[in-house]
Amino acid sequence: MSDVQIRCRENGPLLVTGTFTLVDHLGNPHDISGKPNVALCRCGASKNRPFCDGTHKTTGFQAAESALPPPTA
Ligand code: FES
Repeated sequence: MSDVQIRCRENGPLLVTGTFTLVDHLGNPHDISGKPNVALCRCGASKNRPFCDGTHKTTGFQAAESALPPPTA
């Protein structure tokens, strides 16, 4: 079982907790050493992508979807 948790913050970033590596589109690692969790932007407005810089709070970003229960047979 993975020891990484990705939590969707209400109207905000993806909060990633655990031991993981974050790489760019070329496979180069971002330095996230020493950080117990990382907030990844999912609104697209951050000036420091892929990280959240809090800009979502001023843009009216909405993404409050909840997990759906599994379909029943
Ligand atoms: S989710 Fe925070 S700046 Fe995009």
